[in-house]
Amino acid sequence: MANKKNLNINNESSYPDHLAAIVDRNLLFYVNACKNLPAILKKSILYSIKNGGKRFRPVLCLLTVSSLGKNYGDALPAACAIEFIHTYSLIHDDLPSIDNDDFRRGKLTCHKVFGEDIAILTGDALFAEAFNIIIKYQAASPDIKIRLLEEIAVASGAEGMVAGQVIDVFYTGKKISKKMLDLMHDKKTAKLITASVRCGAIIAGADENIMEKLTVYANCIGLAFQITDDILDIEAGSEVTGKTAGKDAVQNKNTFPSMYGIKKSREIAEQKIKEACHAISGIDIKKENLVNLAEFILKRKK
Ligand code: IPE
Ligand code: IPE
Ligand code: MG
Ligand code: MG
Ligand code: MG
Repeated sequence: MANKKNLNINNESSYPDHLAAIVDRNLLFYVNACKNLPAILKKSILYSIKNGGKRFRPVLCLLTVSSLGKNYGDALPAACAIEFIHTYSLIHDDLPSIDNDDFRRGKLTCHKVFGEDIAILTGDALFAEAFNIIIKYQAASPDIKIRLLEEIAVASGAEGMVAGQVIDVFYTGKKISKKMLDLMHDKKTAKLITASVRCGAIIAGADENIMEKLTVYANCIGLAFQITDDILDIEAGSEVTGKTAGKDAVQNKNTFPSMYGIKKSREIAEQKIKEACHAISGIDIKKENLVNLAEFILKRKK
C-alpha cells in the first residue's frame, strides 16, 4: 500500500496540486481549532484527515470561485467543510457493516486502527464539525451562510448521499435497474460534488443562469467520477488507489462495469465529461480550469 507521499497521485500536470496542498493545511487548522475533544477522537480525526486524498471536492469548490473571477481563498472554509463531510462518508463507507474495507488512502481504515465505536463517532464528529466550520469561519452574510449550509445538508442527507448509500447496501447482491444504478451514483457521489460547485458559485455570487449551467456541469462530472471509481476498482492496483483492489466484484456490488462492462462504462464517463464541458461552454466565466478538472476525471489513476 502506498499513500500520497510516495505517489504522483494525479499523474497529470493539469491537476491543481497547489490548491490541494492549501486545502491540506486548512483542514489541519480546522481540526486543531477544535478544542477540548477527547484525545482518542483528536487522534482518529487527524488520522483520517491527514495524508492522502485528492481533495477533489474542495479543489473543485475553489476553482469554481476563481472561474467566476473571485478569490478562491474566500471559499476555503466551505471547501474544507465539504472535505470533512467527504471524510466522514469514507469512514462510515468502510465500516464492516457497509463495505467492510481494511484499507483507505494507503493506510488501514479508521475502524481497523481505532475500533468500530470510535470510527462511527469520528464520522459523526466530522459531520457536525463541517457545519461548525461554515458557521464559525465562512465570511458571508447570514443569508449566504444558510444557503451554503442548506446545500451541504441536502446533498449529504437523507435525500442525498445517505440515500445513495442506502440504495448501494440495499441492492448489494441483488439485481438493480439501470435507472436505479444512475440514481445511486447520482445520490451517493454526484450530489456532494454538485454541492462543491454550487457552494463555490454561491460564495462568488453567481447569477441564476450561471448557477444552472454549473449545476449541470457538476452533476455530469459527479457521475463520471463514480463511474471511474468503479472502473479503477477493477483496473488499478491497491498500491495505486490505496484501497483493496477488486472488492466491488467480490462483494457483488452494483457498479457501472457490472451493468455495462468496462468499455461501455468508460464511454459513458467520457460522454458525461463532454456534456459537462458543453454545459458551461456558453457562459461567460473562466472555464479552462473547470474543463481541465473535468478531463482529469477520465485520466485519473486513483
Ligand atoms: C472516493 O472518493 C469515494 C467516492 C465517492 C468515489 P475520492 O476518490 O475522492 O477519494 P479520496 O478523497 O481522493 O481518497
Ligand atoms: C463511496 O462509493 C461513496 C460514498 C459516498 C462514500 P464507494 O464505496 O465505491 O467508494 P470507495 O471505492 O470505497 O472509495
Ligand atoms: Mg460504498
Ligand atoms: Mg467503499
Ligand atoms: Mg468504489
